[in-house]
Amino acid sequence: MNYDESAKHILQKIAAAGLEMPETVVILGSGLGKLGSSIDGCLSLPYAEIPHFKTSTAIGHKGNLLVGRLGNTAIMAMQGRFHYYEGYTMQEVTYPIRVFARMGIKRILVSNAAGAVNPDYRVGDLMVITDHINFMPNPLIGPNESLFGPRFPDMTEVYSRRLRTVALAEAARMGLTLREGVYVAETGPTYETPAEYRMFRMLGADAVGMSTVPEVIVARHCGLEVFGISVITNQAHDLDSASGFVNDGDDVVREADRAADKMTNLFRKIVAAG
Ligand code: HPA
Repeated sequence: MNYDESAKHILQKIAAAGLEMPETVVILGSGLGKLGSSIDGCLSLPYAEIPHFKTSTAIGHKGNLLVGRLGNTAIMAMQGRFHYYEGYTMQEVTYPIRVFARMGIKRILVSNAAGAVNPDYRVGDLMVITDHINFMPNPLIGPNESLFGPRFPDMTEVYSRRLRTVALAEAARMGLTLREGVYVAETGPTYETPAEYRMFRMLGADAVGMSTVPEVIVARHCGLEVFGISVITNQAHDLDSASGFVNDGDDVVREADRAADKMTNLFRKIVAAG
């Protein structure tokens, strides 16, 4: 099976480097790439060298799997992820998650850049994802891979209450304010029209983005514990045609980068909590 060939390759590299097998994978979304440089004793495996992995093309995203220690904890980090809007299939977008599950990984921590739908949110805010609304194709459509999980997976508590509690406690200790809210995922690559932002607000979403939910659904199907956080990079309520504001991918990357330090510090603490 392809998943096992990919898993075996990564496991062999970890063993050859004398590294401890991690239980946690961090998916470094927009702006969180810097966390990669904090990983000690780091083994960097280019996606291109891992059998059956795709390479990632989006701006602000590299394509390496990093293995090492963050503080005292062994971790693996995806430096760059695959987006549906790049033209990958949902199976390709979520492929690494199943490889990680086969390797024995226990939890995934995900970050992303998102637009604020909640009018109280400001650019630079961090939002712990409490739940999601999926407007992307479901990655589990097709024959069920029962090796990983059931045909009809439960989605009652997708985002681990335990890890959310840890995040809030660590943030309070750091003097960092966190939002908690619902993330709505859409395919992109277009940003929302003002009417779409309004619709998402009416539906109960707090932030909107183009990633995360596919990986999260597959991770839950595999029984992995999930934690997710969004960096708010733009505010939807500015977006009426009279304001002259336009959404721009470079602004999103820049704002995500500006939040990188606080996000990195928080992730460091969450990883340490195991
Ligand atoms: N919409 C969708 N995806 C995004 C946005 C947004 O406003 N900002 C950053 N990613």
